[in-house]
Amino acid sequence: MSETRDRVRIAVQKSGRLAQDSLALLRRAGLVFRESRDKLFLYGESLPIDVLLVRDDDIPGLLVEGSCELGIVGRNVLDEQRAASTGIDFPLEHRALGFGHCRLALAVPDGGALARPADLAGLRIATSYPQLTAGWLRAHDIVAEVVLLNGSVEIAPRLGKADAICDLVSSGATLAANQLHELTTVLRSEAVLVRAARTHAAAITSQIERLCARIDAALAGNGVRLLMLQAPRSALAAIERLLPAREPASVLGLDGRPDDVALQALCGADLDWQHLEELKRLGARGLMVLNVERMLA
Ligand code: PRP
Ligand code: ZN
Repeated sequence: MSETRDRVRIAVQKSGRLAQDSLALLRRAGLVFRESRDKLFLYGESLPIDVLLVRDDDIPGLLVEGSCELGIVGRNVLDEQRAASTGIDFPLEHRALGFGHCRLALAVPDGGALARPADLAGLRIATSYPQLTAGWLRAHDIVAEVVLLNGSVEIAPRLGKADAICDLVSSGATLAANQLHELTTVLRSEAVLVRAARTHAAAITSQIERLCARIDAALAGNGVRLLMLQAPRSALAAIERLLPAREPASVLGLDGRPDDVALQALCGADLDWQHLEELKRLGARGLMVLNVERMLA
């Protein structure tokens, strides 16, 4: 049974590939924390929301048992544990977060005879993701042995414990360092925001909704820039054609300068130096590009 609390808890990875970006996102959503002595708990000072710093593999379980209402975890961990669970009360994916990109991939030793996934038939595959690996093999009608290892999967082939591995790949450095290369991708993963499936008291639910909405707003600003400039009114049509704008620009008149306008436009991440140089050639002046921190529609 979970105790009754009047504060929301969000579980995030304590150290590892998602740890820093997870906390940075919560800060962008307006959370201000005070650290506990043991550094396992961050007390939320700006909202009644606290952060629990844990091992990523523990995050789905903490939501199932009711110790936390929210979590930030890799889809790889979430999908693996969902496949092993009864599905009852399993956390729900609220949204992908756009960081912590990696993939679960089948990989084999360099210079060997294994060239295609079908070549894995009858062989041993070492992994920390037995459910996802077995599911992929089933879906591709390949019968192979899945060997569960909880760490150092990449050295299993050299130790003779397996013929291939199924492991997370991000930069690919670990595979390269172990003379392995990818055969195929089993799952594309990134950090996701998860919510506990159970229902909560109204006050808790409204804090959960609030944080989710703030995270949505913080992410809506990702890569979006505000372009501001002044230009001759005569150049306006050409300028608007050039802009990689997400919606029509706002055009304002300037006091005492009837031939000039000020323009503001929300642009995507594709707004680059070349755009700015061409805008200048068209007569734009005082160009400014500001990163958009958050957006509420
Ligand atoms: C994964 C994986 C590799 C490494 C790959 O472990 O097991 O060791 O990352 O990354 P690279 O392609 O950039 O070299 P991770 O650090 O995620 O630890 P965990 O799975 O034990 O949480
Ligand atoms: Zn882990």
